[in-house]
Amino acid sequence: MSSESLANLLKEERRFEPPAELAAHANVTAEAYERARDDRLGFWAEQARRLTWATEPTETLDWSNPPFAKWFKDGKLNVAYNCVDRHVEAGHGDRVAIHFEGEPGDTRTLTYADLQREVCQAANALTELGVRAGDRVAIYLPMIPEAVVAMLACARVGAPHSVVFGGFSADALATRVQDADARVVITADGGHRKGAPSALKPAVDEALTRPGTENVRTVLVVRRTEQEVEWTEGRDLWWHDVVGRQSPEHTPQAFEAEHPLFILYTSGTTGKPKGILHTSGGYLTQIAYTHHAVFDLKPETDVFWCTADIGWVTGHSYIVYGPLANGATQVMYEGTPDTPHKGRWWEIAEKYGVTLFYTAPTAIRASMKWGDDIPAKFDLSSLRLLGSVGEPINPEAWIWYREHIGAGRTPIVDTWWQTETGGVMISPLPGVTATKPGSAQVPLPGIAATVVDDEANEVPDGSGGYLVLTEPWPSMLRTIWGDDQRYLDTYWSRFPNRYFAGDGAKKDDDGDVWLLGRVDDVMLVSGHNISTTEVESALVSHPSVAEAAVVGATDPQTTQAICAFVILRGTAAESEGLTEELRAHVAKQLGPIAKPRRILPVAELPKTRSGKIMRRLLRDIAENRELGDVSTLTDSSVMELIQAKLPGAASED
Ligand code: WT7
Repeated sequence: MSSESLANLLKEERRFEPPAELAAHANVTAEAYERARDDRLGFWAEQARRLTWATEPTETLDWSNPPFAKWFKDGKLNVAYNCVDRHVEAGHGDRVAIHFEGEPGDTRTLTYADLQREVCQAANALTELGVRAGDRVAIYLPMIPEAVVAMLACARVGAPHSVVFGGFSADALATRVQDADARVVITADGGHRKGAPSALKPAVDEALTRPGTENVRTVLVVRRTEQEVEWTEGRDLWWHDVVGRQSPEHTPQAFEAEHPLFILYTSGTTGKPKGILHTSGGYLTQIAYTHHAVFDLKPETDVFWCTADIGWVTGHSYIVYGPLANGATQVMYEGTPDTPHKGRWWEIAEKYGVTLFYTAPTAIRASMKWGDDIPAKFDLSSLRLLGSVGEPINPEAWIWYREHIGAGRTPIVDTWWQTETGGVMISPLPGVTATKPGSAQVPLPGIAATVVDDEANEVPDGSGGYLVLTEPWPSMLRTIWGDDQRYLDTYWSRFPNRYFAGDGAKKDDDGDVWLLGRVDDVMLVSGHNISTTEVESALVSHPSVAEAAVVGATDPQTTQAICAFVILRGTAAESEGLTEELRAHVAKQLGPIAKPRRILPVAELPKTRSGKIMRRLLRDIAENRELGDVSTLTDSSVMELIQAKLPGAASED
């Protein structure tokens, strides 16, 4: 059924050639693939020259102790200098680095010269507070410019940062502070979210009562919302006091290319969070290159906007390090897309003349649900390229994105990567690739990826298996913080000498890669592997369905039975007839084996703040179990709503 269903999906496939104008002036052309194929390491050595090194590297890759890579190991550089000072020195001090838009509507403009002053002051403050190269600093901030400044200040003094998403609880913060043994926490009184101030400082106060956090000697607090805060004398300091009185000059010190730049925790489905460690020279090389290549950035004229939070790797790589290393002008927005109205993002895009826009499929599907008329009210004609990241984008959402945000004219880059890969790995190139809705398509120049079967054999075009990376890449994770063995076990033990990404994937007849979701999410129905992504895509291709999440529930006859949770579009009414129609629709698209056993219309789906559906919780519901841990959900009342609907609401065979 697998290849048949793919064929079905592809039947309606359309391809979109790169716009001639973009192709004619594209930063990267088809020739890059050849160059990288002929000499992969030479290609990356060439990309490393995008950076300004204090000591130029002579060795590109040391892979003598795999999978512990050392890239550019005899080179030295300062990451913050590369992201800020060198642009000022090149005469671009007046260029806007960040157009900041607060949720309440307040704004700030930071030029590269402004950013340089603030980063230097913050670096001097960290030094005064006793932070030395190698010390870990936890950052727990809303989406405000100080978050970028704090990260760059850490990079400048060689103190690896560990950014903890501001939506996480005191518990999650405490575990991360403990694991990294952080010495300083940078936070704020709060941030603005959904039209109201949302406190952060109380979570820090609570986290720091837990054992294992005693080494935190300073909490630096940015004033953002002016909420009341509790104050621990001797520990807590206001950012504006300490940073504000520092000299705006600071001489950056060069660090080795393999000096740790940051730790970022990924939760995964089981076990304690993994502290993904990224280092300096290789990371910045690949992030700068991919931002240049995939987004075709022209720093003099483009306005880039990545809607991610800095608490995720997308924010690290494509708000902080990539755009700033490339001297880009970008938009940073504090709040939610529907505050105070559902057109807020498009209003901001119009206001700043955004040209390159990068977001997640979950946000695109939310916009689809809110209606075409909302983006239509704004002038989005400045946009010339759209990007997607975080999960497979279903072809319907892709087409909607192109039509209603991109005026039917912009290329879409569907970028596959992970916290662990640091930067984009698989994506169309906007001036080269004829894009296919729903497919991330091709490994970037210099990247080696393929799809293998259970025995690690590469599968032929037209078949599916597991996505693996077959050669080391510059922005790869170096290890899991404090746990080399777990690094080996998690990523390098499933297939010898190959990095196992944990994603299912297929190659179509052209050899293009289609991501099929986490392998933990693949369902086994009567001996057939069925991908949750494919069934979800089939459901969403029905006009009555806005969003779908599919899980396999244990079943005595078929091993697993497909259970679908769907959000209906505004006008579609819930009825027995409709669920029957949806089941038939899936059967027609993918074959009878993929027909969901149950379809349950719901108002919302359980998601993490980064937009990933928590299938684990839906499986608990489908199997009538007690709910597992709901602490990383955006909104835990969603689960109550779904459960309340359960008895009798599902359509069953
Ligand atoms: C997982 C990594 C990469 C930054 C945000 C997420 C899924 C990511 C795509 C895409 C299909 C995608 C994969 C991957 N994913 N991008 N374009 N198409 N799936 O980072 O939280 O580390 O998650 O997100 O399953 O393994 P992350």
